[in-house]
Amino acid sequence: MLPTAVTLVEVGPRDGLQNEAAPVGADHKIELIHRLQAAGCREIEATSFVSPKWVPQMADNAAVMTGIRRQPGVRYSVLTPNLQGLHAALATCPDEVVVFGAASEAFSHRNINCSIADSIERFRPVVTAAHAAGVKVRAAVSCALGCPYQGEVSADEVERVVRLMRDIGVDHCGIADTIGVGTPVKVQAAMARALRHFPLAQVSGHFHDTYGQALANIHACLQMGVHTFDTSIAGLGGCPYAKGATGNVATEDVVFMLHGMGIATGLDLNALVDAGAWISSVLGRPPVSRVSRALLARRGSAVELALP
Ligand code: HMG
Ligand code: MG
Repeated sequence: MLPTAVTLVEVGPRDGLQNEAAPVGADHKIELIHRLQAAGCREIEATSFVSPKWVPQMADNAAVMTGIRRQPGVRYSVLTPNLQGLHAALATCPDEVVVFGAASEAFSHRNINCSIADSIERFRPVVTAAHAAGVKVRAAVSCALGCPYQGEVSADEVERVVRLMRDIGVDHCGIADTIGVGTPVKVQAAMARALRHFPLAQVSGHFHDTYGQALANIHACLQMGVHTFDTSIAGLGGCPYAKGATGNVATEDVVFMLHGMGIATGLDLNALVDAGAWISSVLGRPPVSRVSRALLARRGSAVELALP
C-alpha cells in the first residue's frame, strides 16, 4: 500500500545554498523561503548554525531566520551540530533543530570533526536543551548508503547510529544518501533498520541525486510506507565535505512523480517551477530539475499540458 499523502521537507535554502561557491545574500535566501512557502511548502530547512569558518555560506543564519516573514502553518528548521549552535539557533525561534551524524567514522571526522561516539555525546545535551525549549529534534544519518572516504557502508553501521540517535531521544530519524550512490534494494535495507527503532511517521529519506537514483529510491521507500522526504528546489546543493556530490533530488521532480501517482503533497508545481527558476537565475545557471526544464521549455506553447 502506497501512502496517499507525502510530506516534503524543503532543504534548498540550507542543503542547496550551503554549497554555492559565490556568496548568496541573506535577502535572496529570505526571498527564496517566501517563494517556497507561497508555493505550499510547510516544512522548510532554512539555514544551519554551524561554524562560519567551516561553512561560510551559512554565516548569515540569524539574519535569515529573523528576516523571514513567518507564515502560520509553516515549520522552520535549522541545523545545530552542538550546544553553541543550538543556543544561537534558539534565539531565532526555530520550530525544529537537526543534529547530523554519520554512519561512517571517516565522514563524521571530516564533516563535524569528531568520532561518531563523540558526536552523540555532543548531540545529547542539544536534544535535552531543545526539548526543554519545546523544540523538536530531527536526526540525519549521513553516508547511510556509501561514504566518499570509507566506501561501502553496511546496514549494521546505519543501525548502530540510528539506535544511538533513538537512545538520546531525537524525535525523528532521516536516512541520508549524501553522495547519491544508493540503489533501491540497498535503500530499503537501510530504511528497514531505521524502522526497527522509529515509527513510520518519524523516518524520512534524504537522497542526493548524484547518480540519478533518487526518484527510484523514493519510490522504493514509498513501497515501505515511508512518507516523508527531503527535497531541494531546482535540485540545488551538495555537501562541502563530500566533493563531487550534487544536490538533493529536485522538489519539482519529486512532486511531478508523486502527483502523477495520485499522491498528495499540498504543493503547487507551477509555483515551485517559478521559485526554482528564480533562484537559479540568481545563481546564474538553469535549474538542475528535469521537470523544471521541461515545463519551462513548454511555457508559451500552444498545447497546454495537463499537469499531474
Ligand atoms: P570544531 O572546530 O571541532 O569546533 O568544529 P570547536 O568546538 O573546537 O570550536 C572551534 C571554533 O568553532 C570556535 O571558534 C567555536 O566558537 C566555533 P574560535 O574560538 O576558533 O573562533 N564554533 C562555532 N561557531 C558557530 N556555530 C557553531 C560553532 N561550534 C563551534 N555551532 C563543528 C566542530 C561541528 C562546529 C564544525 O565541524 C562544523 O561547523 N561543521 C559543520 C559542517 C557542515 O555544516 N556540513 C554541512 C552540513 S551536513 C550535510 O550537509 C549533510 C546532510 O544534508 C545530510 C546528508 O546529505 O548526508 C544533513
Ligand atoms: Mg544533504
